[in-house]
Amino acid sequence: MEPSLEAIRAEALGALADAAGAEAVNALSIRYLGRKGVVTQYLRNISSLPAEQRPAAGKAANAVKVELESAMKAALDRLAEGAGRPADAIDVSLPGRPMAPGTRHPITRIQEEICDIFTRIGFDIAEGPEVESDYYNFEALNIPRDHPARDMQDTFYISDSVVLRTHTSPMQVRYMEKHRPPVRVVVPGKVYRCDSDVTHTPMFHQVEGLLVDRNISFGDLKGVLTTFIHQMFDKATPLRFRPSFFPFTEPSAEVDIGCVICRGSGCRVCSQTGWLEILGSGMVHPAVFENVDIDTSAYSGFAFGMGVERIAMLKYGIDDIRKFFENDLRFLRQF
Ligand code: DAH
Repeated sequence: MEPSLEAIRAEALGALADAAGAEAVNALSIRYLGRKGVVTQYLRNISSLPAEQRPAAGKAANAVKVELESAMKAALDRLAEGAGRPADAIDVSLPGRPMAPGTRHPITRIQEEICDIFTRIGFDIAEGPEVESDYYNFEALNIPRDHPARDMQDTFYISDSVVLRTHTSPMQVRYMEKHRPPVRVVVPGKVYRCDSDVTHTPMFHQVEGLLVDRNISFGDLKGVLTTFIHQMFDKATPLRFRPSFFPFTEPSAEVDIGCVICRGSGCRVCSQTGWLEILGSGMVHPAVFENVDIDTSAYSGFAFGMGVERIAMLKYGIDDIRKFFENDLRFLRQF
């Protein structure tokens, strides 16, 4: 004799109440509702009943089937919740989506590296305006109007008397206006020149240096720059000082370092000379000291200025300066 529909229902709900885990519930689901399950069989057997009993029996059996299905699902949901997560919630145990935190720009890194070396030997850091007056950018640095030295720097003029600074040197004057010697400062920052090719961009970075004290000689300039180059590159890198001209230093020197690519034997980067020009420098010109009321009989000093991109190109072996500013992530991610 077949069990009654009500007996099947009661047995199934009882077993479900005792089910300890999702696996047990799934097993019950198969046992009662599966293809060969008890309820399924029961439904099938209805076709052998007398025709007038079929509709009522079918309706009753279907109602039990639907009831058991939803009871099984509710039991599974409850079990999942008991395990600490609602069935439809976010699974917090999945690995997170990685965020791309980005890296610092190579120019920023090199600029900081340069400044770090100078801070370690006692220099302060200062910054100044990029939109600069003609006075600080030129005049106070002993570059009068109509002086040919102005042609060396392709200036962006804002107005007759206001420019985008063409170098960080104006900060020498601004800094000495506010600080009396001894002065030791480096000034990193953006500068602008109307120029563009593989080694020039209209905006680039410089680090200016200034040291003023009693009895400062060219020997001190050599010592400081040698220390800097040896830390920036390595101790095997030779330096040479070539006589040069800048209106705001006298004497002036351009500093070359032994080519860090070919180590002096001659290559494309150093145009087969074995040397690379790396910075401008010199002893602060008396005319500059006069503009900031520093007594030249008591004080002397040296200054230098270097291009950050140039140093970054040499350190990283990059041959086109424009790569720094194209914002190509494939390039920038390498640093
Ligand atoms: N301002 C110069 C330039 O941009 C670089 C320079 C040369 C800076 C000599 C100095 C210096 O402080 O003494 O070309």
